[in-house]
Amino acid sequence: MTEKHLWHGRFNEAPADSLMAFTQSIGFDVRLWQDDIAGSIAHAQMLGASGVLPRTESDAIVAALRRVESEFASGTFAFAPNDEDIHTAIERRVTEIAGAAGARLHTGRSRNDQVATALRLFAKREFAATARRVLHCIDVLDRRAQEVGDTYLPGYTHLQRAQPVLLSHHLRAHAWALSRDVGRLLDAITRLDVSPLGAGALAGTSLPTDAHDSQRRLGFAGIFANSLDAVSDRDFVAEGIFALTMVAVHLSRIGEEWVLWTSEEFGFASLSDRHATGSSMLPQKKNADIAELARGKAGRIIGNLTGLLATLKGLPLSYNRDLQEDKEPLFDSLDQVNRGLEAVADMISAATFHVDVMQRAADAPSLVATDLAEWLVARGMPFRQAHAKVGELVSRSLASGTSLVDLVRADDQLGPDAAALFAPGIAVRRRTSHGAAGPSAAASQREELHRVITALQARLP
Ligand code: ARG
Repeated sequence: MTEKHLWHGRFNEAPADSLMAFTQSIGFDVRLWQDDIAGSIAHAQMLGASGVLPRTESDAIVAALRRVESEFASGTFAFAPNDEDIHTAIERRVTEIAGAAGARLHTGRSRNDQVATALRLFAKREFAATARRVLHCIDVLDRRAQEVGDTYLPGYTHLQRAQPVLLSHHLRAHAWALSRDVGRLLDAITRLDVSPLGAGALAGTSLPTDAHDSQRRLGFAGIFANSLDAVSDRDFVAEGIFALTMVAVHLSRIGEEWVLWTSEEFGFASLSDRHATGSSMLPQKKNADIAELARGKAGRIIGNLTGLLATLKGLPLSYNRDLQEDKEPLFDSLDQVNRGLEAVADMISAATFHVDVMQRAADAPSLVATDLAEWLVARGMPFRQAHAKVGELVSRSLASGTSLVDLVRADDQLGPDAAALFAPGIAVRRRTSHGAAGPSAAASQREELHRVITALQARLP
C-alpha cells in the first residue's frame, strides 16, 4: 500500500476498492470540515492544558489545524485517495504539517466521539440558521396580511366554501404553524447542546484527559454522562429532521393552496413572472412550480426522517458504521427546506391577490347560512332547530330556483332584518369571538403573533 490508512496497524493488505467505494463518506461529510477542525482544536488544547501532551506539541497541532482551516477556506485543501472521511482527511493533513506532534492529535479520542462532536456543532448552527429563515417566511406572511387590510375570501372546510374569513387571518394561520416550527428547531438545539467529546470509542480513556475543558472550549451547554450513549446517540439528528419535516409539511400545505389559488378555476392570486414557469409546448401556460415543488419535496423529506429512524431502530450499543447514514438525510432535509423557505417567501411576497374575485366568491349567499342560524339563536331559537330551518331554506332555494335571500326576506321568523346579512362583507365582520376570522379580532391576533416572534427571536443562539 502506498499511503496508509489511519487504522492500518493490524492489517496486512490494503482495503479493496469496492470497500472504499461503498464505505467512504468524504463525498458528503466534507461539509463538516469547520466543525471537525473546531472539535480538534478544542481537543488538542485540552490535551495541552491537562498535561497529557506538552504545550509545545499541542501548540504545534493547533497551528497545523489552523493552517488546514485556511486551506479549506481558500479551497486549496488537497484530498488524498485514502481520505475515507473528513475526519481522516484532516488528521492526515495535520500529521503531514506537524509531523510527530500531529500523530498525537488523536490521543484519548476516537472518530466515534469526534464525529458526534462535529455533527452536534454543525446541527446547532444550521438549525438556528433554518429557524431564522422560517422567521423570515413568517415575516413575509405577516407583512402581506397587514397590506391586504380587510380583504376577505371564502374559508373552506372539506374544500367546500364554509364561511368568509379575512385574507390576513388566512395568511397568519400559516404564520402560526411556522412559528411552532421555530420553537421545535430551538427546542432541538437546547437538547443537542451536549458535548460527547471525551467519550472515546465507547468507554472513555485511561489517560488523564479533561472532557469538561473541551466542552467549555466548544461552548456546549452540557456534557455527556454516559460514554456509550454519547457515541451512539443520534436522537438530535432525528429530532432536527422531524422539525425540518414539519416545516416541509407546512410549506407543502401552503404550496397546495397556491396551486389552487393561482388556477383559472379559483383565480384568487397571480404569481409574478419571476416566480412562475412556462410550458415548453403550451404557449399560454404560467405554472406555479415553486408551489408544486413545495408540495412535492415534502415527500422526499418525510422519506429522510423515516429512513433515519429505520437505520437507528435496530442498532445495538454503541457506535456502528450504520450511523454514518445520519448525515445525508440531515444535509438533504436542511438544503431542501432552506431553499423551499426562501422560494415560497419570495413567491408570496411578489404575488398579486385578486381581491374582487376572492370577495365575490365569499359573498355567495350560501356562506351566510351559519349567520342566519346564529341570528335565530340570538332571538331565542335552539341552535339545532335554527340549523334545520336554515338548511330547509337552502334546500328549498336549490329545488325551486328562488334565491335564498328572497326566501329569507319572506320568512316569518327571519324577514328583512335577517336578509340584510346577505349584504357584501357583512358576514365576515360578524366573526367577533376570540381568535375569530373577522376584523375586530385581527389586531389583537397580530399583537400576539409579534409577541411570540419576539420571544422566539430572543431564544436564537
Ligand atoms: N465517517 C464515519 C461516520 O460518519 C466516521 C466514523 C467511523 N468510525 C469508525 N469506528 N469506523 O460515522
